Amino acid sequence: MSSDTHQANQSPFLSPDLPPAEFQAMGRRVIDLIAEYYASLAREAVDMGTAPPAFPAVRPAEIAAMFTGPAPERPESLDAILADWSNTILPNASHLGHPRWFGFVNGTGSQISVLAEALAASLDPNLGGFRASPSATEVERQTIRWCAELIGYNPDCGGLFLSGGTMANVTAIRIAMQAKASWDIGRDGLQSPDRPGRLTIYMADHETHVSFVRAVELLGLGRAALRQVPSHADFTIDVAALDRMLDDDIAQDMTPFCIIGHVGSINVGAIDDLDALADVAVRRDLWFHADGACGALGAMLPEMSKAFRGLSRAGSVSFDAHKWLGVPYEAGCLLVREPEMMRATFALTAAYLLPSATSEYSGLNYFDYGPQLSRSWRALKVWMSLRHYGAEGYRTFFRQTIACAKHLHALVLASDDFEAVQPEPELYLYSFRWAPPSLRGDDARLDELNQRLTDELQSRRLAFAMTTRIHGRVTQRLSICSHRTTIADIDATFAAMREIGQELLNAPPS
Ligand SMILES: Cc1ncc(COP(=O)(O)O)c(C=O)c1O
Repeated sequence: MSSDTHQANQSPFLSPDLPPAEFQAMGRRVIDLIAEYYASLAREAVDMGTAPPAFPAVRPAEIAAMFTGPAPERPESLDAILADWSNTILPNASHLGHPRWFGFVNGTGSQISVLAEALAASLDPNLGGFRASPSATEVERQTIRWCAELIGYNPDCGGLFLSGGTMANVTAIRIAMQAKASWDIGRDGLQSPDRPGRLTIYMADHETHVSFVRAVELLGLGRAALRQVPSHADFTIDVAALDRMLDDDIAQDMTPFCIIGHVGSINVGAIDDLDALADVAVRRDLWFHADGACGALGAMLPEMSKAFRGLSRAGSVSFDAHKWLGVPYEAGCLLVREPEMMRATFALTAAYLLPSATSEYSGLNYFDYGPQLSRSWRALKVWMSLRHYGAEGYRTFFRQTIACAKHLHALVLASDDFEAVQPEPELYLYSFRWAPPSLRGDDARLDELNQRLTDELQSRRLAFAMTTRIHGRVTQRLSICSHRTTIADIDATFAAMREIGQELLNAPPS
């Protein structure tokens, strides 16, 4: 044995693996920490005031100062590493799983997914190519089929998991470009000399989600390609206006290729008339993409079937499993009614990726169906969660979140100092405004105070909510997406907002 090889075998790193008992002991310590963490977010902990605040309200520079040490030269003990987890990371974390975390649109923790992540990492398959992930690929395919079935979409659709709704939307628009442009965009790009006018996509002007801005920029279409169609008072797209805009744009030599339907808009959870959008798309030979990042899973609820009519007709549907399905980041999902459209857009050839001839062991290569080559096994946590809770479990949870949003709407309607800015919510997203009678009409002041109200709620660590703008005015916005949130949390948060509002009103002008 050369001295080099001998040295390599003595290395404490990577090889050999730890003895099983030692690894198990490490794992148990980590699992214990996770279990303690969940206990800290439990109802009793929240009621007794021992739960951590949803938001740490520590200044960013103070947190940055905790993470300035040099890269470790020598191995460190698990004790030291876990001590930092408990003493530095956790106390300065936002707790998205907290029952009073209402920020962004965050899933709040399917415990089985945490275990799924560990299992997925242990096998560490690469879901790009079949040969690096045979059973894992089939788990992903089955999960896609289950999701499609559950929301009433074509179960033979194609689909895959991506980092999130943004990448799902980017991918959908790229497929739509390939499907609908009259030239081969994959080969010639956007610069084909015989290309007609600007390629354009259409969506409601209310809450045109920023992921589509990202999509048109990334895909080289440019922001001007994103055409914003007027919406109705209930925030859904005005389909007649869309038709007129399409006529005008075509007359201006533009090339419409895609219509986007909101399936749960980010501030108010609006669901467009999907059937009507599908009709327009068919009549004009356009791609119809349904952005259901927040809401498409609502189609699992039979009582909401009317709202989701037409979803099954979309050429593609996106949703985020890391939102309402509660699995940890990252887990965006794209379903595409005709899998061949994905292949037509993304199929790759490279000698080092594929065997020179197909064999009986050739399976589906996801790198032919989406933008990524190497891919993690995001599907496993969704697969295990669906099995663990069952569709029925999810339906119960969805109903609970919607009931909380409706309850908040009722509180707003019943109070003098708040005003509704949207109809009764259909989903779990809800925006409303603090507007005491003495300040109504003074929009600039109300904007300022609504922002201060949310900031104060955060810094007092009572709950984490955020503001947004509806019709240009600052409003409160809650995403009630947690299985831990109950009506009591909504009541407590609303009461706290009310109290802060009163204080702001009584405070001398700053
Ligand atoms: C309607 C809508 N589309 C797309 C996205 C983007 O999703 P992600 O943040 O997972 O990229 C979001 C995120 O909240 C959303 O609400």
